[in-house]
Amino acid sequence: MSEGISQPDQPEAVAGEGKDLFSKFDDIIHTREALLASGVEDPFNLVMEKVLSPTRAVCNGRDTILLGTYNYMGMTFDPDVIEAGKQALADFGSGTTGSRVLNGTYQGHKACEEALKEFYAMDHAMVFSTGYQANLGIISTIAGKGDYIVLDIDSHASIWDGCAMGNAEVVPFKHNDIEAMEKRLRRIPEGAGKLVVLEGVYSMLGDIAPLKEMIAVAKKYGAMVLVDEAHSMGFIGPNGRGVAEEQGCLEDVDFVIGTFSKSVGTVGGFCVSNHPKFEIMRLVCRPYVFTASLPPSVVATAATSIRKLMHGGNKRAHLWENSKRLHGGLTGMGFTLGTTEPQSAIVAVIMPDLERGAAMWEALLHEGLYVNLARPPATPANMTLLRCSLCAEHSEEEVETILGMFERAGKAVGII
Ligand SMILES: Cc1ncc(COP(=O)(O)O)c(C=O)c1O
Repeated sequence: MSEGISQPDQPEAVAGEGKDLFSKFDDIIHTREALLASGVEDPFNLVMEKVLSPTRAVCNGRDTILLGTYNYMGMTFDPDVIEAGKQALADFGSGTTGSRVLNGTYQGHKACEEALKEFYAMDHAMVFSTGYQANLGIISTIAGKGDYIVLDIDSHASIWDGCAMGNAEVVPFKHNDIEAMEKRLRRIPEGAGKLVVLEGVYSMLGDIAPLKEMIAVAKKYGAMVLVDEAHSMGFIGPNGRGVAEEQGCLEDVDFVIGTFSKSVGTVGGFCVSNHPKFEIMRLVCRPYVFTASLPPSVVATAATSIRKLMHGGNKRAHLWENSKRLHGGLTGMGFTLGTTEPQSAIVAVIMPDLERGAAMWEALLHEGLYVNLARPPATPANMTLLRCSLCAEHSEEEVETILGMFERAGKAVGII
């Protein structure tokens, strides 16, 4: 109430009266308080005090092996990548201060899109400020009111948010279930616009999608197909183009979504496509138009990294070795994993409950190992997971050290 105006008959509104808009967070606040009251370190508040390499950092003053980053191809400290970023920072400044459609397209953004077109051998590439915005923008723009989106129930939050923003009819189906997907497609009215949204690798359990079969079904019903290859780019497929390439069905994918925040080793997102009208997206896609473009140093590091990933065959082979070694070792010790065979660079260790998951996470950190603690709602089926993501720069010896740490921590916490 403004000063000087007195309204004696009407008591002033007292802070705290009325509905507290934060009351909807009470459950998560209580869960978090209970967890911290048990004495464990806050698993969602870890600080990297110094980063030593793609696989090591100083956390809580201790040299720690990183097994919970998305730095799959270990590009963050690549000398060519760092040099390209430094040069662009010096030549073009620290930021563009504008949207891609106004003053925010520099030659570096174009060079980055050229690198993506070459990497995927596709006609069009559009760089967004994050992968989250790429999904948000492309999905909400191409599937609007009256259209149908058929998507895997375990899709990433950015996919769900893109569906919500576009106002299409959203029809989820059981994870990786081809028959359930077909049933949904069959029920869509004749003549309606249809988009099937899939991921190559699902990031919680590290499992891959049967894309070849799913895309064949989608095409049978006349649907367009979008595949998010965030966790497979750079690693899976003969050229690192992802699971669709590995399974020989990349030509049938209408839109590939990806990110620079994982194998590419920086930040940003993209969509590549062969659709002849794709370029119109630059004018109609709000999360592309109404936000500032990536800094020149970021697109320079991304373009350099993408070009190096085209020749990353040896790194890909070593990363597979690491994934197999870790998966086999943990299985042998009696841990329950998200997949029976290693399918990606993600190895998810299933914990009995959040308390023991947090205790195990902390025991590993004290051993000098960082992994991701993942819990609902991010995880499927209410699972608590210790998600391990391997890097092509982890040495064979490091993976053996990691296995020793898991064995000691697992025994101390009573999980194995
Ligand atoms: C499947 C998937 N898509 C999109 C994203 C978003 O990527 P970004 O970090 O670039 O916003 C992520 C990030 O975790 C992801 O896992």
